[in-house]
Amino acid sequence: MDLSDAREKARERMKGTCGVYKVCDGNPDRLCQGIKYGKALGLGGIGKGTTFTANVQALDRLRLKSRLISLHKEPEMKASFFGHEVAFPIFCTSMSGVQISMGGAISELEFDRAVIRGCKTAGTIGFVGDGAETLEDRPGLQAIREADGWGVQIFKPREQSVLLRLIQEARAAGAIAVGVDLDGAGSVPMALKGQPVFRKSVEELKELVASTSLPFILKGITSEEDAAAALQTGCKVVAVSNHGGRTLDSMLGIADVLPRLVPILKGKVVIAADGGVRTGFDVLKMLALGADFVMAGREFIRAAIGGGAEGVTAEAAFLSQDLRKAMIMTGCNTLSEINEEVFA
Ligand SMILES: Cc1cc2nc3c(=O)[nH]c(=O)nc-3n(C[C@H](O)[C@H](O)[C@H](O)COP(=O)(O)O)c2cc1C
Repeated sequence: MDLSDAREKARERMKGTCGVYKVCDGNPDRLCQGIKYGKALGLGGIGKGTTFTANVQALDRLRLKSRLISLHKEPEMKASFFGHEVAFPIFCTSMSGVQISMGGAISELEFDRAVIRGCKTAGTIGFVGDGAETLEDRPGLQAIREADGWGVQIFKPREQSVLLRLIQEARAAGAIAVGVDLDGAGSVPMALKGQPVFRKSVEELKELVASTSLPFILKGITSEEDAAAALQTGCKVVAVSNHGGRTLDSMLGIADVLPRLVPILKGKVVIAADGGVRTGFDVLKMLALGADFVMAGREFIRAAIGGGAEGVTAEAAFLSQDLRKAMIMTGCNTLSEINEEVFA
């Protein structure tokens, strides 16, 4: 199954949820967008959807320039994530809520398996999310266990005692890393399903980080204040992310936020970034802004729902092939050579 087939299948399976447009840009006229008036978000953004749109626009505003007169070399895209070698610095980010948000054509476990296995086959790492439907069966951890630990689990900022238990379970599943999406703190579906979520203090985060030997990821950082606070917790990875525009309306796009946070974080923690990434050219831009790893969300949802693990592998290959092309065209032989000089 190639990526076009997977997207075609996703168009049928996600009817009414996602139009599988040629570009997923979050424009107000897209069927996923618009104020939901109490209904589930689907694949859209929160409120008027402006943060979702801003993510894509911030990347589009950045223009690249070609640099072609130099000795040709095959781009070196391999990277190491806490000792685990990946073929390219692109991950499938953490996502959950297949029934409530993604059209419900497959089960949560099938989705998580597609992400974890599909990424593993492609030579990279899949992340799995946590939501109101995942506490009981832990589909993400099951998928990670089945892949001999080759995956990362991100949990919602649940009650401290629940989180401490879940983090231990992630370790037992052999996960590569574990973390919390701090921007899940305002989730209404979680509260309605009796699974409260909270903001977390530095002390609480320190306790979570210290409770495990796994590298700890804080996902959902978009301000200088949070970036500085994150450094006090002992976390190993900061994921600069606004949840694809699903948690707070009227935010800046991630490509606008990243340059503000990189000076605070660079060299102290691993920087991951997501939000609006649709192609390998977008990946190159995020790397040039200072991200060490770039993650994509909605593109992998369509690939997984339409094509399962094969679809996810095809999506990862698509993104990495375009990254290779972007590196050749901008004169970058290695990942460390990708910097702001690629911009026009
Ligand atoms: C349907 C959907 C469900 C999501 N569920 C989660 C989740 O459970 N945990 C999490 O950390 N992030 C979740 N996210 C946010 C993604 O991890 C990521 O930040 C975002 O999708 C990136 O933007 P993009 O979709 O434009 O690539 C979800 C996003 C979508 C679209």
